[in-house]
Amino acid sequence: MTTDADNGGQPASPWTVPQFSAAKQQGRKLTVLTAYDFTWAQLLDEIGIDAILVGDTLGMVVQGRNSTLRVTVDQMIYHAEMVVRAVKQALVIVDMPFMSFHVSPEQAMENAGRLIKETGAAAVKLEGGVNQAGTIAKLTGADVPVMAHVGLKPQSVLSIGGYKVQRAKQPLLDDALAAQKAGAFAIVLECVPREIAAEITATLTIPTIGIGAGPDCDGQVLVTNDMLGLTPGFTPKFLKKYADLRNTVETSVRNYIQETRDNSFPDDSHSFHE
Ligand code: KIV
Repeated sequence: MTTDADNGGQPASPWTVPQFSAAKQQGRKLTVLTAYDFTWAQLLDEIGIDAILVGDTLGMVVQGRNSTLRVTVDQMIYHAEMVVRAVKQALVIVDMPFMSFHVSPEQAMENAGRLIKETGAAAVKLEGGVNQAGTIAKLTGADVPVMAHVGLKPQSVLSIGGYKVQRAKQPLLDDALAAQKAGAFAIVLECVPREIAAEITATLTIPTIGIGAGPDCDGQVLVTNDMLGLTPGFTPKFLKKYADLRNTVETSVRNYIQETRDNSFPDDSHSFHE
């Protein structure tokens, strides 16, 4: 990896998939956040995030639905294209939405091809381990980099009956190993006990990126809106709120309304003159 010593060890050139995978051997923790549009992607990239996930959480965060299930490939392309246009350094990974890869490996190839070709993203992410090993192998065999996602798989919410911590150790290990064997370059571990996540992380050669999986993963991912305090009432145990942006926005907008009404905005300093 080309690194800039004055840049906290961050790559001086745009992240690549092999660099992302190699970070595990270098003992460098990986940072990942979600973005769904140009403004946020540009900000996160400039701050120095390693990877940006255009997650299908956009179904909840952007569209206001109660699950990710209705998100389409076209919607993922619409958002991912804006993100890619903003990013100069971070690795951009795009989620494959529900039923865009389940029908057959051929369907997965077609949709992953669209996601890569029409957005310019570097990789796709898909939920699955043992059950999707054939599809992951087919995609990686066609040079489509795949990040797998095991543990709590939000696209399985109907069959598992809610967003629950996944505690069955052997199936989790089997899923992670199957995804690695099929060629995945990294794996998201969502909502699994930290001890199991630590064991999976020690077992795999590819990086584990945790969300609700404890501190021993090779990296962490959070939904940006959640960690910045923009999602009212969402307080799962794994979430740390790094800011209360909802409050900041509320105060700012209230001030704007007040100042417009009492005519203290705009004043002369915000006015043009002849
Ligand atoms: O869709 C998403 O944003 C995700 C993250 C929560 C990992 O899958």
